[in-house]
Amino acid sequence: MNISGKTKLCVIIGDPVDHSLSPAMHNAAYKDLGIDDEFVFVASHVKVENVKDVVQAVRVMNIRGLTCTIPHKLEVMRYLDEIDPIAEKIGAVNTVVNENGTLKGYNTDWLGTVIPLENKIGSLNGKSVALIGAGGAARAMAYGVIEKGAHLTIFNRTKDKAEKLAEELGKRAQTRTLEEMAQEMPKQDIILNATSVGMGKQIDQTPVPKEYIHSGQIVFDAVYAPRETRLLKESNKQGAVTIQGIEMLLYQGTAQFELYTGRIAPVDVMRRVLHE
Ligand code: ATR
Repeated sequence: MNISGKTKLCVIIGDPVDHSLSPAMHNAAYKDLGIDDEFVFVASHVKVENVKDVVQAVRVMNIRGLTCTIPHKLEVMRYLDEIDPIAEKIGAVNTVVNENGTLKGYNTDWLGTVIPLENKIGSLNGKSVALIGAGGAARAMAYGVIEKGAHLTIFNRTKDKAEKLAEELGKRAQTRTLEEMAQEMPKQDIILNATSVGMGKQIDQTPVPKEYIHSGQIVFDAVYAPRETRLLKESNKQGAVTIQGIEMLLYQGTAQFELYTGRIAPVDVMRRVLHE
């Protein structure tokens, strides 16, 4: 670490935040590019009711970047000077850049979905995408694939929530129940899991029965702990191409890194930190 009087501060706020991988990922990238004298990245445990004061601190302390985790992604939007149109559409800000006292909010979560998919198949235009889940994680994923011209079908246990999300996306998505997977899932080019099935208490479960998955499909799981979920293991066995949730963390982070530093992110270094 190479901190001086000129070093700029970037901070991730969350509640909780101590599990965050962002400080390790960003600081390793600064070091790799030899800019660890220019930037340092730390985490701060902040209650949602204090987000307003934090934004004021960012202004007066001239903090360069403010990264927000749930639930701060919504709250922070109220106190910024500008919001990028994409973040506005998604309805959440995970990245705040301080440009000489003007605070602008961005969302890079959708890039965490789109970039890994494009790395595998090139363009998403015209592809059929199934998204399972309609909660917080699903929003940016849904927005990302629609923005890139894919045909989206949202499957959710609670149909009303899927319909609400489709409505918010300007009706640019179809909705289905989980029971309709049998007919619909095999037709999809890409399957995205945005539910919590496969982690925590549901670690032994999968959101998509393996018989609906086949070679020629891409399966991307937003769950990143465990790295190889039951869904991904079974999809591999069925011959599908798989993408781990850690890639989503990586590419929302690389996009954010570029906004804070104006440099191209060292992707491999940042990936290595996440894997470690
Ligand atoms: P997050 O912010 O992580 O997306 P969330 O907003 O609570 O968390 O959303 C969790 C998603 O996982 C929801 O789509 C939820 O389905 P419901 O809308 O029906 O609640 C889905 N989910 C969680 N457990 C599930 C299960 N066992 N089977 C199917 N879907 C499940």
